[in-house]
Amino acid sequence: MERISTGISELDAKLSGGYPKGRAILLTGTPGAGKTIFGLHFIQRSLTDGSKCLHIATEESPEDILVQAEILGLNLVPYLDCEQLRIERVFEVRTESSEMSTQLGFGFETTEINLLEQVKLVPDDTDVVVIDNMGVFALNTGVKEFRDMLDTITRLLASKGCTTLMIMDETAHNLTHGIAEYSTYGSIKLMMKENPYTGVRERYLDIPKMRSTELSLELSVFDITSEGIKLRESRSNNE
Ligand SMILES: Nc1ncnc2c1ncn2[C@@H]1O[C@H](COP(=O)(O)OP(=O)(O)OP(=O)(O)O)[C@@H](O)[C@H]1O
Ligand SMILES: [Mg+2]
Repeated sequence: MERISTGISELDAKLSGGYPKGRAILLTGTPGAGKTIFGLHFIQRSLTDGSKCLHIATEESPEDILVQAEILGLNLVPYLDCEQLRIERVFEVRTESSEMSTQLGFGFETTEINLLEQVKLVPDDTDVVVIDNMGVFALNTGVKEFRDMLDTITRLLASKGCTTLMIMDETAHNLTHGIAEYSTYGSIKLMMKENPYTGVRERYLDIPKMRSTELSLELSVFDITSEGIKLRESRSNNE
């Protein structure tokens, strides 16, 4: 199976070279766990490899995303200028449509239609899609509707040959009983917890599922540095 780099070299090594090409991978995690930065690594690496990328942002403005990227030394602006990268402003659209639907006495259905419509409009030559954060689309839907929407989105994006990173916050993921993990080809979880031996809080990465890929079930410890996410060498490698 062809692989596409995650943008984090130590993670590529754990995934037999990277994400399975043309498939959708779910990335979940607690607030501040590093989900957005994780997505930015994927976008930046794909851009430098010449891929056409689309970032669908639901919670942060594109300006904030560019600022976060710049802090990590990732300069996305030239790629926006030459249209190799597009950042879709679902955040603003969502805010406006929520206001409008509240004024008109509707629910939030407009949001869901919006994401599906966005995905239908993804140009066929798009190689990489990052959706950050799918969670907002889970809040006002039933679990079955959410699963149907996810299946439709993953099918549509797969038919366009896109490799997709679907980011979803832990709260929405739990609210939908983790159903998104079944719709996607792989699942990666980011979390923070206290190291029981040192009492120090650390960042952990878990890969519970990646179809067609030999996986180690060992958790990886990672840091977020001025250069972004760095996985620490696993203890078994040090021995
Ligand atoms: N240059 C840096 N050096 C060290 N840590 C950083 C740096 N830049 C960001 N961080 C850390 O990364 C964390 C945020 O990462 P990120 O925005 O990817 O999290 P997230 O999982 O997307 O959060 P949210 O749930 O709010 O969307 C910050 O809380 C901060 O601790
Ligand atoms: Mg985020």
